Amino acid sequence: MEKARIAVLVSGGGTNLQALIDAQATGIIRSGKIALVISNNAGAYALERAARAGIHSEVVLKKELGSQAAFEDRIKALLKHYEIDYIVLAGFMSILSEDFTKDYPERILNVHPSLIPSFCGKGYYGLRVHEEALAYGVKVTGATVHFVNEIPDGGRILLQKAVEIQEGDTPEVLQRRVMEQAEWKILPAAVEMVCARKGN
Ligand code: GAR
Repeated sequence: MEKARIAVLVSGGGTNLQALIDAQATGIIRSGKIALVISNNAGAYALERAARAGIHSEVVLKKELGSQAAFEDRIKALLKHYEIDYIVLAGFMSILSEDFTKDYPERILNVHPSLIPSFCGKGYYGLRVHEEALAYGVKVTGATVHFVNEIPDGGRILLQKAVEIQEGDTPEVLQRRVMEQAEWKILPAAVEMVCARKGN
């Protein structure tokens, strides 16, 4: 069977992109191939990770294009050009409109650093999620991979993994533990699961 073509959308450090690149190299991802990386930030370290792995990358800047619609149209054009089957949001810090998500039903995956439905939705991204989990005082957090629809963090859940909070955790320490123990494992596993679906 032909491999599904994957685009990974990033904004920052790209450790989840790295986990996908590594999973492709070790065969954890075998039904799909990362064909494109798109960043909405020209300075994202994720772009270097893509270059080192020999993966095409493109930078799409909302402030240059002028509007959310023009930004999303540019991304859609790239996805068509590269014949992309699945889109993975891996630390992509921009919410896609319904106009975009409706064109890719159950074809966009996102990794979120909490156990949805806790600490998710508009405004919950990156370190902020872990700050809120610590402030609330929960003893267990984790990560979720889900399909993306018009509701921020609201699409069908594919995989989740719990991570314990420890005495003295800072948001940074907790973020790292959630990445190591959950995100970098369940994101590649979910990507393989979806790409292996019959007929893609
Ligand atoms: C990750 O923890 C990811 O789950 C989170 O941002 C970080 C990106 O790190 N994403 C969100 O909060 C989306 N709502 P990375 O660039 O090293 O993969």
